[in-house]
Amino acid sequence: MCGIVGYVGPNRAADYLLEGLRRLEYRGYDSSGVVTAEEGGALAITKTTGRIERLAAALAATPHEGEIGLGHTRWATHGPATDANAHPHIGGDRVLALVHNGVIENYAALRDRLKAKGYRFDSDTDSEVVAHLIADELKKARGKGPVADELDPHALIVEAVRLATSKLRGTYGLGVIFREWPGVLIAARLGSPLVIGVGDGEHFLASDGSPLVGHTDRIVYLADHELAVVTAGSIRIMGRDSATVAHSVEQLDIDSSQVELGGYPHYMLKEIFEQPESIRAAMRGRLDRDQATAVFGGLNLDARRLRGIDRMILTACGTSWHSGLVGEYMIEEFARLPVEVEYASELRYRNPPLSSDTLLLAITQSGETIDTLAAMREMKRKGHPVLAICNVVGSSIARESDGGVYLHAGPEIGVASTKAYTSQCVVLALLALHLGRLRHLSYEAGLRIIDELEALPEAVERALESNDVARRIAGLYASCENFLYLGRQYNFPTALEGALKLKEISYIHAEGYPAAEMKHGPIALVDEATPSVFIVPQGGVYDKVIANMEEIRARGGPVIAIVDEQDERASAIATEVIRVPAVADFLQPIVTAIPLQLLAYHIAVLRGCDVDKPRNLAKSVTVE
Ligand code: F6R
Repeated sequence: MCGIVGYVGPNRAADYLLEGLRRLEYRGYDSSGVVTAEEGGALAITKTTGRIERLAAALAATPHEGEIGLGHTRWATHGPATDANAHPHIGGDRVLALVHNGVIENYAALRDRLKAKGYRFDSDTDSEVVAHLIADELKKARGKGPVADELDPHALIVEAVRLATSKLRGTYGLGVIFREWPGVLIAARLGSPLVIGVGDGEHFLASDGSPLVGHTDRIVYLADHELAVVTAGSIRIMGRDSATVAHSVEQLDIDSSQVELGGYPHYMLKEIFEQPESIRAAMRGRLDRDQATAVFGGLNLDARRLRGIDRMILTACGTSWHSGLVGEYMIEEFARLPVEVEYASELRYRNPPLSSDTLLLAITQSGETIDTLAAMREMKRKGHPVLAICNVVGSSIARESDGGVYLHAGPEIGVASTKAYTSQCVVLALLALHLGRLRHLSYEAGLRIIDELEALPEAVERALESNDVARRIAGLYASCENFLYLGRQYNFPTALEGALKLKEISYIHAEGYPAAEMKHGPIALVDEATPSVFIVPQGGVYDKVIANMEEIRARGGPVIAIVDEQDERASAIATEVIRVPAVADFLQPIVTAIPLQLLAYHIAVLRGCDVDKPRNLAKSVTVE
């Protein structure tokens, strides 16, 4: 949430800042802005409400030439999307400019104190408080005379940022530049991600690795409580105690094709069509036919410890929570382990009685969702082993868990999650197989599961052939204002996920329910203008779901059925049919998710919605 970029080097900073903001726009798109230090250090700021293209137009009209600068794309927390609330914010008497991602919980008290000292506030944001607070600390430090280390030309501003951040309660990723120190950029983080790209004679700052693509593949991850002093030729990172900490430069594994549209009209459609490949990537090197199991490099829990686990808590938010529900069925079926799936935002404030052998598994695409991170930290603090399934390499959750599994799905840029969801389901299937083979699952059963997994990418390719049918059906129902999504067992989470996809990108009200539950309330909604999407592939509950379909048809409700390729009975009842290849029960949520993603996509496009950047949403939810 909120994207930050920064540049210091020999080139025009605004060029990188604008390009970087376009790549980060998925983190928030209420307003954006840049600041650069121009000739003589003067801070030039351009900011606008609305999408990055408005900022680009403003920058074309008033170009910035400075070789150091910061940029920001905002997802509003405090105060509406206005020019004044857009970042960067000025501190003191144009002493510094700051961009901030996160939430400052004690901003009101700090603002009152700063106001009393004469600081003028132009915005409603919590971020402006940080800008003035640093300016105030700088003023105080100056008043005390030279600071301890006179050999360090940046000692004053480092001390000012350090003292100011020590007074903050909440989360921050900060970038700050100072009028009187035109060649240096300071970054600090607590709870909001920041990375530094290492170039030749230049450095880049960003909220994640995507803006660095095309500039450098060398990346430094900033950890919580760290502060970085970045010039064109150097990076110095300090820990909480101000001591310099050694930093390692890691390899950024994103290439340019992964962050470009590649001929697709939207990232969401591109990512939907990438699924055969992202699913292959999730399984690559992880299936072991000799032992009939799945193998992982980074679980960091040996077989003995895993056999001792008495229960699992899967925690996540949104779509990732839905994959957790799929995982619950898989792990209980293959490993016979009790599993609970908890919203991370609930788990973090609960205190469930758990044994020390309860394993927490956090599931997240971004690895930065603050509720998931907080729930994970809480469980870790209580001594539970903590694993994560995560897409973004080097993200906070990936770094703080005891071990885990990367999805390797490549960057997911569309705000609505698609390929990360199916990859999460695949990794959960692998994990269920692994845990199962450590417990009760037979060799033959393990091999059968491997066969089924290996056939999955091709089944997903065939499921994507439903694109034209999904587009046609979208045309029939795009004007409806309510949808129901119904499925049972493995396909109940699919119903929830289908409904979420539709509502988040098309703004249609949609509810997902276990099919049989609809008689206990939602059936009252059924009429000719309320389609029910049934996920009804062959399986143990096929006959039961068909009975539920009949009940909807008897009340005049249209039924869109997702069925197996050879299906006859459900198809005969449904108003519209989308066919997908038949797969094993545990893989149905993956194959049936495809037409639901496509249906939501086409409906949103027909309604003229901004599919990749739905209103009010941001890709990575780093505020509570
Ligand atoms: C919906 C969607 C969100 C995320 C949720 C968790 O399409 O993308 O519901 O699933 O915000 O995000 P991660 O997985 O990054 O923790």
